[in-house]
Amino acid sequence: YSAHFYYQIIKDSGFPKPDDEKIVYGHFPKDFIWSTATASYQIEGGWRADGKGLSIWDKFAHTPLRVFNDDNGDIACDSYNKVDEDIAILKQLKVTHYRFSISWPRVLPDGTLKHINEAGLNYYHRLVDALLAANIQPHVTLYHWDLPQALQDIGGWENETIILKFRDYADFIFSHLGDKVKLWITINEPYNIANIGHGYGAAAPGISFRPGTLPYIVGHNLLKAHAEAWHLYNDKYRAKQKGIISITINSDWSEPRNPYKQGDIDAARRVVQFYIGWFAHPIFNGDYSDTMKTIIRERSLAAGLPKSRLPEFSPEEVKWIKGTYDYFGFNHYTTVLAFPMEYGNLQHYDADRGAGTIADRTWLDSGSSWLKVSPFGFRKILNFIKEEYGNPPIIITENGISERGPIDLNDIHRSYYYEKYINQVLKAYMLDNVDIRGYTAWSLMDNLEWATGFSERFGLFYVNRSDPKLPRVAKSSVTLYSTIIKCNGFPD
Ligand code: NOJ
Repeated sequence: YSAHFYYQIIKDSGFPKPDDEKIVYGHFPKDFIWSTATASYQIEGGWRADGKGLSIWDKFAHTPLRVFNDDNGDIACDSYNKVDEDIAILKQLKVTHYRFSISWPRVLPDGTLKHINEAGLNYYHRLVDALLAANIQPHVTLYHWDLPQALQDIGGWENETIILKFRDYADFIFSHLGDKVKLWITINEPYNIANIGHGYGAAAPGISFRPGTLPYIVGHNLLKAHAEAWHLYNDKYRAKQKGIISITINSDWSEPRNPYKQGDIDAARRVVQFYIGWFAHPIFNGDYSDTMKTIIRERSLAAGLPKSRLPEFSPEEVKWIKGTYDYFGFNHYTTVLAFPMEYGNLQHYDADRGAGTIADRTWLDSGSSWLKVSPFGFRKILNFIKEEYGNPPIIITENGISERGPIDLNDIHRSYYYEKYINQVLKAYMLDNVDIRGYTAWSLMDNLEWATGFSERFGLFYVNRSDPKLPRVAKSSVTLYSTIIKCNGFPD
């Protein structure tokens, strides 16, 4: 059944909704960030416009059978040519901020400072200027997965020379846009880059033949690259530009499948440490968690390897990485139920964490197989961040739901999702004192959902792909979200 089918039944039946938690009334703090997000490859198009270099996503999506329906981002939402249209729908939403990413090869075609593409940089100047003129603050991600192909050709994130190349790129962007942009994200979802891109191979660069080692090497370099960019900003730009900078970490919440089974409780904890903890532990607490270090080391030695497959940080590196945040950028969509699973000596991330996960069958569906509607997990993981990582200020940098199949602009499943999930954020803030500073809806408009192409639509606005003008059309959830924004929460 499609998500829509379920929601229609619920809507028509008058039966209690499956999540029967009551809505809590109240407001978010004043100056709360209300935002919506996109990413360069997913919306820009203009894949070769004005001297842009190729990215790993251009290559991946042009390889047959990698992306559903062989869709690609050659045109996407054509945002490269539609600054005015995008600003207009942002205004309609009444967001205070807009989160978007910069395409590294659009500004530095081969990834280095040897060759600068002014026309590409000017696109971001135009966008940022138009946002500021509309009184919308830019929240800019430096890296949302579209690595210059030229850097992939020399090893990409596996090659540690990427760390200084990323710093140079960040330096370039801070120096050109930092007078106007006060809110930065270094890297979006390192977990997915490492594990999906270099473990499962279902995202660019699509490598899957060393699933027990490569994700950890890539993750290690991502953490170091992030730390370089954070320190660079801190030392060279912060005093003058007065912005804040952090990383965006994604994670599901994980519950024991059977809350009375110790094995399930332990599995759920491992899933959390291997997911959010992989990147959050080094940045907020220092070094990888003992859970990850011990398990991967033991399993590596048991398989006859000379040392752990998880690379080690030197004591200096631990110190250098720890504290490289101004806030906790957090992407969240769903919850899983965990149970223990033995994989023998298999060298693989899944085997290392020793757990399987499923969804509860009563949770509502979405257009994405991995995303089930489970609002309660949001409050739980926000509380986990508060407890585990020293109560950092949190900006939710993504949250949202997809649909697939024929378009129905009356997207009640999305309104339902946002109302329930944002209310869980309010509960975490009001009732649990979690320090939440902002919320970002994914996504402003339907776009290229990576390996599932245009078939899964996360947009508040529908993009009609059969019309060459690619018009943006409001779905009904636009009214719901802009009302929550206008009220700064849930007034009674
Ligand atoms: C995570 C990613 O950052 C974004 O690019 C993606 O489209 C959404 N989540 C939905 O899967």
